[in-house]
Amino acid sequence: MKAYFLDQPEQAIGADYLAKHGIFYRQMPVDESAYAEPLQKLRDERGYVQMDEVRLNDQTPNLPALLTKFFGEHLHTDEEIRFVTAGAGIFDLRDAQDRWMRVHVAPGDLIIVPPNLYHRFALDDQKNIVCKRLFQNTLGWEAVPRSL
Ligand code: LAC
Ligand code: NI
Repeated sequence: MKAYFLDQPEQAIGADYLAKHGIFYRQMPVDESAYAEPLQKLRDERGYVQMDEVRLNDQTPNLPALLTKFFGEHLHTDEEIRFVTAGAGIFDLRDAQDRWMRVHVAPGDLIIVPPNLYHRFALDDQKNIVCKRLFQNTLGWEAVPRSL
């Protein structure tokens, strides 16, 4: 994980600053045999009852449309949990002063965006990510665009 202010990339952001905004970050093992147990523990502790996997790459149908959607600033009323197992991604998250914090995630990075925090997502130049998504709720999980 590498985090910095988008308008001042030389200014690094630490996990403590992310934590102040309710953003949880954790480094996990990259190997499934090694992450299976801590991931299950986290699921039990935080009540994540559902998990799926998302793959985005140049073979993904409708990739441009998906990326346009993900890059629109939005929030959710539930947590957004992402565990990256391959590739890379970019989460832009608003800090308390409405400044973009850019968090560049790589394999082994687990990030939890708290409810009601505005954010957006992009791929980096690799144009490839595999990540697990965890959910506390099997019902709806919707994006609320900022403009509304
Ligand atoms: C999501 C990410 C892209 O809402 O923010 O799925
Ligand atoms: Ni989101």
